[in-house]
Amino acid sequence: MYLRNTWYVAARSGDIGRNLLAVKVLGEKIVVYREEGGAPVALEDACPHRKLPLSMGRLQGDAIVCGYHGLTFGRTGLCLGSPTQARIPSTAKVRSYPVVDRWGMLWIWMGEPALANESKILHIDNSDNPRWGLSHGGKMSCACNYLYLTDNLLDPSHVAWVHTTSFAASGTEDTPLQIKADDEGVIVSRWMKGREVPPYYAPLVKFDGLCDRLQHYEVRYPSIAINKSVFTPAGTGGDDQNLPDNAYVMVSYHFLTPIDDSHTLYNWMQNRNTDPDDADVSARTAAGAANAFEEDRLVLEAVHAGMANRTTPYLDLALDAGSLRFRKGLQALIDKEAAAHAAAA
Ligand code: FES
Ligand SMILES: [Fe+2]
Repeated sequence: MYLRNTWYVAARSGDIGRNLLAVKVLGEKIVVYREEGGAPVALEDACPHRKLPLSMGRLQGDAIVCGYHGLTFGRTGLCLGSPTQARIPSTAKVRSYPVVDRWGMLWIWMGEPALANESKILHIDNSDNPRWGLSHGGKMSCACNYLYLTDNLLDPSHVAWVHTTSFAASGTEDTPLQIKADDEGVIVSRWMKGREVPPYYAPLVKFDGLCDRLQHYEVRYPSIAINKSVFTPAGTGGDDQNLPDNAYVMVSYHFLTPIDDSHTLYNWMQNRNTDPDDADVSARTAAGAANAFEEDRLVLEAVHAGMANRTTPYLDLALDAGSLRFRKGLQALIDKEAAAHAAAA
């Protein structure tokens, strides 16, 4: 079961056009395309006649013509044409999903369409700040349940073993973690004081010498992770301090979309408080992140397989407290939504 009354990223906006793109979200097959004016459309990817995927049909104006017998459907999902007979059957309709382009992604609302509210799409802080730079990031598909990714993105410790050439530095193995939970999700964080700057960030920070470093790992329900890294000259960092002018801040946004129970679409982007117009910095940060997230993918796919096929017990460690809190909070939301849906039925 998934949380349904929420926005998920279905695809990159740039991947949607005047073609029929088949995607799968929460186990549902969906076809997406753009109308001639550019507006995105998402429909159930199954013709109601013989369930041929509509993505195997063709676009005619703003509508899809089924590739088997020509039933035609537009953005509402209602049948607009039935070439083989005069009367359009009243049951000839497919499900239509609300979709919105925002932040270079196509967001899809998987729940009750009447509840879709664009203002609930995550806001990217500093997106209009001229002093901040943006990397559009990347995407990949992971053969693991999305909750292994939310676990990972509430787990600052794993960088010490998984990202040895990028995010690891002394302190990442054993500095204690703080956990905060609220209605939006869970934050696991820690400051590490007087440490070296890790390799990924060393060419980016604007000061020399040791640093104080914040790892802020936040996941919002159901599956958007906000990962904030702050570096200040040693002795100037901490929750109780104002950040100095030469502090380096990078925020990575991770959009995790369950394709089904064992596959996840993973899109990310990053912004930073330096080098606003430096395409080379954007390209290097994106490439470094892509390498690191590939390291995560290998581990998490093997974790998914290992947990699915386990023959002996597993255990939790103290580092899992944040991710377990998140899983519990998300399950409560899913249960509440399902109960409300059942009561309304
Ligand atoms: S399967 Fe689509 S019209 Fe027959
Ligand atoms: Fe990682």
